Amino acid sequence: MEDRRLIRAALQARERAYSPYSHFQVGAALLAEDGRIFTGCNIENAAYSVTNCAERTAFFKAVSEGVYDFQGIAIVGGAGGQEPSGLCPPCGVCRQVMMEFCIPDRFRILLGRSEEDYQVFTLAQLLPMGFGPDDLAKAAAAESVHL
Ligand code: THU
Repeated sequence: MEDRRLIRAALQARERAYSPYSHFQVGAALLAEDGRIFTGCNIENAAYSVTNCAERTAFFKAVSEGVYDFQGIAIVGGAGGQEPSGLCPPCGVCRQVMMEFCIPDRFRILLGRSEEDYQVFTLAQLLPMGFGPDDLAKAAAAESVHL
């Protein structure tokens, strides 16, 4: 039931996509550990590379509100003005942002076409052997041993 609610929030967020260049609309709903939901849509720019994906919009909204712990995210996307016909996997940059804040084998990524039709992955599945904060911490610990 919680999954369906999260996908519904992502579908609603998708309606606010600002995508005049690609006409591809993405919505995301990020579930914090405390149960709050932060939504996001893709926000494009005439200077194309400045575009922000829906997932990062949701993460940056949460982090800027002081929220750093997350359970999962629902993502929906597809051609504008239509129901999503396929799944919308997060881009590599967004997977890396997830790696910063989430526990890879616990964080759930719901890729949906609708509330009833979705697949669930972990971040570890979508970003195997990802580089994250723990890798820096391990390197710093090893360095202190050699001092
Ligand atoms: N996009 C997202 O918002 N999330 C993804 O996971 C994939 C791509 C957006 C970026 C751009 O506005 C449009 O979809 C086409 O790439």
